[in-house]
Amino acid sequence: MTVDVLLGLQWGDEGKGKIVDVLSPEYDLIARFQGGPNAGHTLEFDNQKYVLNTIPSGIFNEKNMNLIGNGVVIDPIILKRELDNLKSSGFDPVAAGKLVIARKAHLILPTHQLLDAASETKMGEGKIGSTLKGIGPTYMDKTGRNGLRVGDSMLPDFKERYDKLVAKHKSILAHYGEIPDFSEREQAFFDAIDFLRTIPQVDSEHFVNKYLQEGKSVLAEGAQGTLLDVDFGSYPFVTSSNTTTAGACTGLGIAPNKIGDVIGIFKAYCTRVGGGPFPTELFDETGEKLRQVGHEFGATTGRARRCGWIDIPALKYAIMLNGVTALIMTKADVLSGFEKIYACTHYKHNGEVIDYMPYDICGVPAEPVLEELEGWNEDLTGIRNPEEVPAKLMEYVKYIEDKVGVPVKYLSVGPDRVQTLVIK
Ligand code: GDP
Ligand code: IMO
Ligand code: MG
Repeated sequence: MTVDVLLGLQWGDEGKGKIVDVLSPEYDLIARFQGGPNAGHTLEFDNQKYVLNTIPSGIFNEKNMNLIGNGVVIDPIILKRELDNLKSSGFDPVAAGKLVIARKAHLILPTHQLLDAASETKMGEGKIGSTLKGIGPTYMDKTGRNGLRVGDSMLPDFKERYDKLVAKHKSILAHYGEIPDFSEREQAFFDAIDFLRTIPQVDSEHFVNKYLQEGKSVLAEGAQGTLLDVDFGSYPFVTSSNTTTAGACTGLGIAPNKIGDVIGIFKAYCTRVGGGPFPTELFDETGEKLRQVGHEFGATTGRARRCGWIDIPALKYAIMLNGVTALIMTKADVLSGFEKIYACTHYKHNGEVIDYMPYDICGVPAEPVLEELEGWNEDLTGIRNPEEVPAKLMEYVKYIEDKVGVPVKYLSVGPDRVQTLVIK
């Protein structure tokens, strides 16, 4: 057996949570492999909406096991809150034995968040626009070999290890200015650590490989999006993990030859939240219309998402980096009623016309070369039969497939589980 990977091909918020939930009945195990509570994965069914930050989006399916992998960074306070919220909605994955956590996953400390905020404040206008969840500083401690891991919470000297790391953080924070009081958050952190100890801990590498050996199916759930990858995104306006397929190998402990299908999700247009280049961004009423119709406000931070047309060079880049075998287009319904829609096919950059994302995209803007396409008027949200999809939308799908060379297998026409069409 192999591990299928599902990930975002743009700047995040492509609808990963919804689609993982839809596909989860096909899998025995759903595993998050990177990122942390910077993610907000939304899913809807039975008129209820749920937002997950750390927990895999397979949690609502009765038969799935869910793993938070070693590549994820965990804020125990947020994880506890997520599980408390689920419990009050009638789901208790811990009691149901449906959630395990990698003991090698790193912990986000209250001071990691302070460091994140201090760094962003210092950068002023040029800030990354981080979610302020402490993601960057936690991954810095991981690669800097200072970090605390989930498994450390079981050690008798956990508090001493914590104090040692916090002392280091305080010395860095002092360089930024006055250190805010975080005693309340620290108390909440230790309460949440007590709770964390009640969740079964595993070695994700053995756990996942055992599933494969037993012939069970596994889906790896990505967070963020390819264009936020720390190596291949628009650095430095990126997150601090590898959001690409390779991240599933290191973030779970699976060999590259164990990767099966790679399902790439993209919106029918583009959004980005936070700073950084966005070639097709619309600053006019069309952008505002996309934002309003698409409810483009962050699931984690509530920030307004920047909106623009589909970016084919960026999509091709993401498909190449990830080895995407099948595509899923989400939010097609949001484009209904646009008389014309546009696709970016190339960029004008440094006086040249190019069809790839240039190295210096953060310094020298890439101006989009747009192709005009016919829109469609029909409301898609009630469609349940793929044959009812308007011809103009199918032309748009075909146009993208021809450009990128990978089939679009699913079309999402609304936030609910049932608003998902298999078109291939
Ligand atoms: P994720 O981070 O990739 O899981 O995506 P988010 O949950 O942050 O953002 C996607 C938003 O779009 C959520 O509010 C979803 O409920 C919603 N959504 C997902 N698919 C569709 C769709 O096909 N149409 C519409 N209108 N909304 C969708
Ligand atoms: P999901 O999984 C959209 C963005 C932030 C910021 C940059 C760095 O819901 O798609 P960080 O907090 O990681 O240091 O922020 O990355 N970002 C996301 N944008 N969706 C996400 O996750 C994101 N996670 C981080 O806005 O620009
Ligand atoms: Mg999101």
